[in-house]
Amino acid sequence: MITKTEIVNEKLNPNSPFFSVVLAPTNEEQQLLFALKNLGKLPEGFDGELFVPLLEHHNPKIRCLAVKNVGKLKDVRFLTKLVAFAEAEKNTIARREAVSAIGRLKTENAIPILTQFTTDTDPKIILQALRGLLYFREHPEVQSALASLAEHPNELIREQIARELKGPGRTETAKTRNHPASPEALKNVLVRADVQDVLKVIPDESIHLTFTSPPYYNARDYTIFPSYEAYLDFLTAVFRETHRITKEGRFFVLNTSPVIVPRISRAHSSKRYAIPYDIHPRLTEIGWEFIDDIVWVKPEYAAKNRNGGFFQHRKPLGYKANSVTESVMVYRKKTDKLIDWNIRQYNDDTIDASKVIGEYEKTNVWQINPATDKVHPAVFPPELAARVVQYYSFKGDLVFDPFGGSGTVGYVALAQERCYFLCEKEAEYIECAEQMLGSTLSTISKPRILSLEGFKAEISGLQKR
Ligand SMILES: C[S@@+](CC[C@H](N)C(=O)[O-])C[C@H]1O[C@@H](n2cnc3c(N)ncnc32)[C@H](O)[C@@H]1O
Repeated sequence: MITKTEIVNEKLNPNSPFFSVVLAPTNEEQQLLFALKNLGKLPEGFDGELFVPLLEHHNPKIRCLAVKNVGKLKDVRFLTKLVAFAEAEKNTIARREAVSAIGRLKTENAIPILTQFTTDTDPKIILQALRGLLYFREHPEVQSALASLAEHPNELIREQIARELKGPGRTETAKTRNHPASPEALKNVLVRADVQDVLKVIPDESIHLTFTSPPYYNARDYTIFPSYEAYLDFLTAVFRETHRITKEGRFFVLNTSPVIVPRISRAHSSKRYAIPYDIHPRLTEIGWEFIDDIVWVKPEYAAKNRNGGFFQHRKPLGYKANSVTESVMVYRKKTDKLIDWNIRQYNDDTIDASKVIGEYEKTNVWQINPATDKVHPAVFPPELAARVVQYYSFKGDLVFDPFGGSGTVGYVALAQERCYFLCEKEAEYIECAEQMLGSTLSTISKPRILSLEGFKAEISGLQKR
């Protein structure tokens, strides 16, 4: 069996017969696969003809790797072979490689061929063809191919075309240029009011991160909604406004879980509402792009026991799982800019200071004990908020919690050298929050607790300045 070192050494020797021996189509499949996978960058003058017989190998993995290697050569003499291969090949991965290889040739002769592939039934083939065509984006044939895809049923293709047709840099605004900044009037403020009234007066693109846990439909008594639909409409309205006030490409992290509204008598059954699943389509509709589903796992003792009955009777259908998890759903304000663009908006000092050093959670299963509070029935454990704040914001950023409760997000934001902006409508929770926020060791000023009117006055001052 050949080794990687042999391959590396033999590539330095242009007259060696090594590769014609190793890549002979009659060789063992394992050897062919090993050689094709480990060829790496091909040296100038490498004999691409050695791959041609392998394009007809019965093993699709070998055909796929062979066409990939032909692509590396970027040699227009292989155009006809690649086209014939892509047209005849049945294996989708090998076809994609062939279309990619055609694009990599960067030859105008390939424009009609790639245009033809934009009508393929496999969206990935179309995306590969588009990538090749975009090298000649000004060419009239390419322009009309792009235009014909603007209404394509596949969302990734439509997004790619929209980006192209919009042109570079058009979305840059004064606000996106000053990405790390946020309005002073919002920093380290808790507004004592209904969040819907507060949101109305906040300028667009003011905040960097939202982490929140909304009221649990009618499972707890702090907010009563006339119906589940009305509850979802309320959350949707709040999160639509949250989207508006969030900076481009920044994150929204939502903690919810299914809730049970208890039965009214033994003759009725309790009703379970799948809040995370029901709110998700509404969030994506607003313009929040789904990023991650983190599962917060609590110890078993923290769960309400629901399987006492089943424990006794053991009859199928009567099984009820004790719920030890909650959802922590991560979204990003949809943009055509990459996360790298967001990072580049900060100076090197801020990026360095914000790095997550040492241990961090590598999986989407976060095992964290729940927290309890004497006054508030549903507080975040600081550890949960600390992870979200560290992973999804930079030092100096403004972190928002529309349902601030006892102020955990604010407390943690300050401890992590970020600023907070919170809303809470219940006086007794605001008192807890005031105590908690006032108790931090932060050198930043004490919390400013404002009424809606006081806050509006501050905001209008900001707008006049
Ligand atoms: C699940 S608790 C959040 C607890 C918080 N994460 C903490 O660590 O303390 C939801 C909070 O939203 C508040 N709330 C509900 N409806 C509100 C509204 N319309 N405006 C502002 N706050 C609201 C409730 O009073 C409650 O304190």
